[in-house]
Amino acid sequence: MAETKALDRAAWLAEASRCVQAWEAAHGDFDRHPSVRVPDAVLREAFEALIQRLRGNYPFFHPRYAGQMLKAPHPAAVLGYAATMLINPNNHALDSGAPTAAMEKEVVQHLARMFGLPKETLGHLTSSGTIANLEALWVGRCCQPDKALAFSEQAHYTHGRMADVLGMRSIVIPADQRGRMELEALDSALKTGSVGTVVLTTGTTSLGAVDPVAEAVPLCRAYGARVHVDAAYGGFYALLSDDDRPGLLSQETARHFRAIEEADSVVIDPHKHGLQPYGCGCLLLRDPTLGRYYQHDSPYTYFSSDALHLGEISLECSRAGAAAAALWLTLKVLPLATDRGLGLILTACLHAAQRWTEALQAAEVLRAYVSPELDIVTFFPERRAASAIDAASQALFTRAVADADPIYLSVLSVRSGALSASHPAIRRDQETLRILRSALMKPEHASCASTLVERLDAMAQQA
Ligand SMILES: Cc1ncc(COP(=O)(O)O)c(C=O)c1O
Repeated sequence: MAETKALDRAAWLAEASRCVQAWEAAHGDFDRHPSVRVPDAVLREAFEALIQRLRGNYPFFHPRYAGQMLKAPHPAAVLGYAATMLINPNNHALDSGAPTAAMEKEVVQHLARMFGLPKETLGHLTSSGTIANLEALWVGRCCQPDKALAFSEQAHYTHGRMADVLGMRSIVIPADQRGRMELEALDSALKTGSVGTVVLTTGTTSLGAVDPVAEAVPLCRAYGARVHVDAAYGGFYALLSDDDRPGLLSQETARHFRAIEEADSVVIDPHKHGLQPYGCGCLLLRDPTLGRYYQHDSPYTYFSSDALHLGEISLECSRAGAAAAALWLTLKVLPLATDRGLGLILTACLHAAQRWTEALQAAEVLRAYVSPELDIVTFFPERRAASAIDAASQALFTRAVADADPIYLSVLSVRSGALSASHPAIRRDQETLRILRSALMKPEHASCASTLVERLDAMAQQA
């Protein structure tokens, strides 16, 4: 390969295209059918229209974007995806993508090892966290067909929907004021004997709260319930769970991440903290014999090899080999390690959340809602009543985006009761209220967190 600068995306994309073109040429020249030919001028005009539309996006790559769990993929992921996409393997069967199927098996093993799951763990990539969770819940239903699914009121909203899709009864367990599942309530639900699978979330979408996995696992075991950990957003923080340097995970949070090794199934989204483009979730099943539930015949595939075809253990059929290649290449250059690779990125994200929180402590008007466990920080402009906070939060959200130097946040709806538990002086004049939320999922957030909060505080004061 020619020399290219590490983050020079244009040069790397050209290199990817050149390498794939050389591979194509080695298979012999042929004439493209006239039906697929498009005049350059037509393609250019359409492409310019596309670029014009894409400019309507918020700048997800920039640290001024702290709204949702969005960020641009790492250049290594882009390169891996682009090069592979030009070939377009399908990880359904080995004859449709043997090299990328092998890469998928490798990355799945890396992810299982990160959680301390056994070597035999069975897993595969999925198109999203939702689909990976659906599969885990479906396996749970296969194991205990007549039993219910229990999850916290703070679990991702898709668990309830997927339970509906699967025809499973849902039991919603209350969460404490910091967003973590209440163990006593879980115990009471388990005592009824009706729960087959319990979903624990290590990093909730709203607050980044970590459910008490270490205590919940023995409880579930005592009642014969399966444990599914939804680590779609927070999972990569397992990399820091053995690092007790101050300023990283609290001892308690780290203990719950370590306990994931006891789970029956785990879901993680490389398209969140794993720097991948969308289309990359992952399901891990501790017991490989559960692959039997996926057993099916396909009259068209699985004939090329006796080795495992990933379609044989996946509910989805076609899946992008490019997603596996992108993750494989990313982990080659940014490994799943504590003190390098992804570990360094996550460390910076935790620092960003701490700096954001410290800046809130020094702020005139803005106050923290709860102290963050991971990299999601929630806060609100201080007012005497819930209704006034609600209006001021929405106003600040809108004002910050409209600024000449914009800051992009998200809005979170919370219960007034939860707010007044930590801020008893606030009048509960309405049931729920909107507050503000920042997902600080880019390492660059660490160096600008304080400035962003100071600017938001100044905007809140003007309002
Ligand atoms: C904890 C959790 N679980 C599941 C999901 C759903 O994942 P996806 O958006 O990849 O379908 C999310 C998305 O934010 C999440 O935060």
